[in-house]
Order: sequence, then C-alpha cells, then structure tokens
Amino acid sequence: MFENEENIVVINHPLLSHKISILRDKKTGTNEFRKIVEEIAIFEGYEALKDLPTEEVEVETPIETCMVPMLQGPKLAIVPILRAGLAMVSGFLTLYPSAKVGHIGMYRDEETHEPIPYYCKLPSNIDERPIVVVDPMLATGGSACDAIDQIKKQGGKNIKFVCIIAAPEGVKKLHEKHPDVKIYIGSLDRQLNENAYICPGLGDAGDRIFGTL
Ligand code: PRP
Ligand code: URA
Repeated sequence: MFENEENIVVINHPLLSHKISILRDKKTGTNEFRKIVEEIAIFEGYEALKDLPTEEVEVETPIETCMVPMLQGPKLAIVPILRAGLAMVSGFLTLYPSAKVGHIGMYRDEETHEPIPYYCKLPSNIDERPIVVVDPMLATGGSACDAIDQIKKQGGKNIKFVCIIAAPEGVKKLHEKHPDVKIYIGSLDRQLNENAYICPGLGDAGDRIFGTL
C-alpha cells in the first residue's frame, strides 16, 4: 500500500518500531509516553530533514582551511497541531535548535470527527521557510488537511507532514488533497474504527501525553 508514492514515506527501523510499540501499550504512563514521543520525533526528524539545503562555507580547522557544508537559507518552521503535536517539538528542536515554532490549534468534533480550528500563529516569512507540520496521529486526515490549508493560505509552500501512527484512510485523504506535501509515517496501521480512532493505534494521543484521560 502506497509503496510507489514517493511523497509517502513509512520509516522502517527496528528502534523506531520498538518505541512505537511501547507507546501502544496502555500500561505506559504519561511521563514515559511523553519522553518516547520526543525520542521518536528525533528519529523521524532525522529522516524528514535530510534534504535541508546547505551551502559551502570556508572554515579553518587546526590543520588547514577548507570548504564545508552549513545549513543555508531561512530557518526551518516547526508547526505542531495542538495539542498532541506539542510533544514532538522538543525532538525537532534537538535536531534544529534555531528553528522557529508556529502553532495550529484544532480538535475533532466527537460526533462528526471534523476538525474545529481555534488558533493559528505562524512564524514570519512563512512563504520562504521549509515547514514541518507535526502531529503524532493521522486518523481521518481532517486535522492535517485543515492545518496545511491554513499554512498554504498564509503563503507556506515547502511543507512536510510528520506523524507517528497513520491510518490508510488519513494518508489517502492527505495525499489526495495535498499531493505536494511529503508525509513521513512511523507506523501505517490497519484502519479506523467506528469512532474514527486508529486500530490498533495508541488511543487518544493528546490525553496520553497530557494525562487528561
Ligand atoms: C488528535 C490528533 C490529531 C487528530 C487526528 O487530536 O492529535 O490532531 O486527532 O485526527 P484526524 O486525522 O481524524 O483529524 P484531537 O482532535 O484528539 O485533539 P487534542 O490533540 O487536543 O486531544
Ligand atoms: N486522534 C487520536 O489521538 N487517536 C486516534 O486514534 C485518532 C485520532
């Protein structure tokens, strides 16, 4: 499924799979859950940011002068979808400490499962920056599509989406609506259930991260 789509990447690594398995376990408590989400964000960010542009600059080593690659251009914008995406920000900042951080707030209506937006604040010059939208869960895809709509309305162009667990339904919807956005997935799960939760999934990511179960 999605194997031939170059903008859909399911990251395959035993260390990542192991950490996602710990998140799935309902016995995993808030403290450990949060820490592991941060670690997973580092793994996934390492993969998702591997085409950041660099430029050659001159440095003097203790031995000689040489040309070396350094990150180039406007700084990365990390945009978590609130609430659960917040837990992935620190992992991305570990990789790219000078990144700017925007926030998009939305929650799913319990009946319709449609996203209800309530906040959007993006870094300046968003049209010039590489942007990575982070949210642990891609379920129906409604929240991700809406968040990316909002970013594009403000001029964002170079956008990636990074999640930990995705349902095929959400991947399909996001890819159809925003085919230019490369999607990075830690685990592609089986399906959604009648409440639009991912199966087997990990439950409600926001509640598990913030202890609001
Ligand atoms: C969760 C999750 C995503 C959304 C995914 O947030 O963090 O944002 O659901 O579902 P979708 O793909 O069907 O839109 P939730 O709505 O539970 O809000 P919260 O993070 O504030 O708990
Ligand atoms: N949001 C979550 O947090 N979990 C799901 O399984 C689906 C949406």
